[in-house]
Amino acid sequence: MCGIVGYIGQREAWQIIVKGLKRLEYRGYDSAGVALVDQQHINHYKKTGKVSDLEAAAAGANLQGRTGIGHTRWATHGEPSDRNAHPHLSEDGRLAIVHNGIIENYGPLKEELSSRGHVFQSDTDTEVLIHLIADILAEEKTDLLEAVRIALTQVIGAYAILVTDREHPEQLIAARKGSPMVIGVGNGEYFIASDASPIIEYTRNVIYLKDREIAFINGGELLIKTIDNEVQTPYIQKLEMQLEMLEKAGYDHFMLKEIHEQPRSIRDCMRGRIYPQEGKVQLGGIKEYADKLRNAERIIIVACGTSWHAGLVGEYLIEEFARIPVGVEYASEFRYRNPIITERDIVIAISQSGETADTMAAIELAKERGATILGICNVVGSSIPRLTHGGVYTHAGPEIGVASTKAFTAQVTVLTLIAMYAAQLRGTLAQSKLVELLTSLEDIPTLVEKTLACDQATQYIAAEIKDATNAIFLGRGVGFPVALEGALKLKEISYIHAEGYPAAEMKHGPIALIDEEMPVVVIATQNSSYEKVISNIQEVKARKGRVIAIVTEGDTAVRALADYVIEIPDADEAFLPLLATIPLQLLSYHTALLRGCNVDQPRNLAKSVTVE
Ligand code: F6R
Repeated sequence: MCGIVGYIGQREAWQIIVKGLKRLEYRGYDSAGVALVDQQHINHYKKTGKVSDLEAAAAGANLQGRTGIGHTRWATHGEPSDRNAHPHLSEDGRLAIVHNGIIENYGPLKEELSSRGHVFQSDTDTEVLIHLIADILAEEKTDLLEAVRIALTQVIGAYAILVTDREHPEQLIAARKGSPMVIGVGNGEYFIASDASPIIEYTRNVIYLKDREIAFINGGELLIKTIDNEVQTPYIQKLEMQLEMLEKAGYDHFMLKEIHEQPRSIRDCMRGRIYPQEGKVQLGGIKEYADKLRNAERIIIVACGTSWHAGLVGEYLIEEFARIPVGVEYASEFRYRNPIITERDIVIAISQSGETADTMAAIELAKERGATILGICNVVGSSIPRLTHGGVYTHAGPEIGVASTKAFTAQVTVLTLIAMYAAQLRGTLAQSKLVELLTSLEDIPTLVEKTLACDQATQYIAAEIKDATNAIFLGRGVGFPVALEGALKLKEISYIHAEGYPAAEMKHGPIALIDEEMPVVVIATQNSSYEKVISNIQEVKARKGRVIAIVTEGDTAVRALADYVIEIPDADEAFLPLLATIPLQLLSYHTALLRGCNVDQPRNLAKSVTVE
């Protein structure tokens, strides 16, 4: 949440920062700002709205400066406004800061600083931090690096910050704890950002700053030390990401591009991990924990949002294939309970961004209590893979649309692989069954490709439901998490209120909502609960609900009942989520478009939820 970009070098910083902020807008887009150090002055520009609004507002102003910092905000403390937008300056205008995260003890710090005469211009926690740094700088008669370091020892909470100083345009300070920060190392120049996307076109050499580290760039030299004042040796890595992955490639929206990328992303996720002829799954990142998995008494999956839905699919598959009991927990609830966790438990944390604050806190808690923690993450180099004992990357590639699509199917693919891997270790599936399942799984990317042909049908149905105010999604078995995910997609991007339910639960309450206005989307493919779902559809039709059914190719029974059908290819029931989710993603996409919504950046949301 919140994106930050900084530059120091020989080029003009404004263009680099603004372009970078646009790449980071998925992290927050309610206001933006930039501060530039030019000839011992800090010029700063802030604007409510998107980065393009900031650009328009700053047109014609002095945009010179070879050192600069920028920010795109998702408001936590203080409403979105020009006043609360970052950067924030020290009272004398000497220092500027941008910040991603939350300073939890900003209240007492603010009180203390106010009592000493500090006057604040905004409602943000960030402004408190820059006043604190300025205060230490003045009181302790020290240099900026030391003042930042001392200030950070007093701060409770999460942060990634950049600080500039008009008296030292040749200096830039970056620091992080709990929020990501990447430093791109160029030729005598440095690019700093919340993720690598603003950096990739300038350099592939990057340093992922670690928690409690401070980077001090001074006259082209980089020094990294910890908050405890220990100097660190920078570890420079090569970025593997391609620039094209960050562009729309001819699609109108990132979400549509990412939906269409799924045959590729699922294939990439399986590459080198499945051996269908041998009936074997190989997962290098968790191999070391094979014994733990073999002997696990229980698996607890922790995640949020869409990743939590993937976890529910994982629950079905792991219990079915590996016969290990699985519990799926909202990370935000788990962390504040007093959960019973033992050393024989395995906790699987799922996160696209690898930065979700609640999921990270749930991991810390389970780790303290001795569980083995495995991660399923998409963003390489993010925080969660560093917190876990082992893990499996999803390799879906950068997901920029705020609504998760290809990351979900990649998470489900990894969970499918983990379920089969555990089954292989525990001998709960016959070798012949593993061969059969893996042979069908290998075919899934091709079937996803075929499924994408439902685009036109979903467009047509979207036009029929676009004016609805509510919708219900129903499914049974693995179709239930698919229904939840379909409902989440629709509500988050089209703002139509939608609920997902296990189909049989409908008659215990939600059926009261059904009338001729209510679209009811039913996962009605031919699998073990097919007949039961048909009965549920009949119950909806008896109350004049409008049924949109996701059916298996060639289905006639549901077609005879439903108002609209979308066909998907036949596949093993275990892989149904990988196919049935696709039409629901497209249905949400087209409905949101017809309602004039901003598909890639829905209101109030941000992609990376680094606050609790
Ligand atoms: C919905 C969506 C969110 C995320 C959730 C967890 O489309 O994207 O519900 O799934 O915020 O994020 P990660 O997976 O990054 O931990």
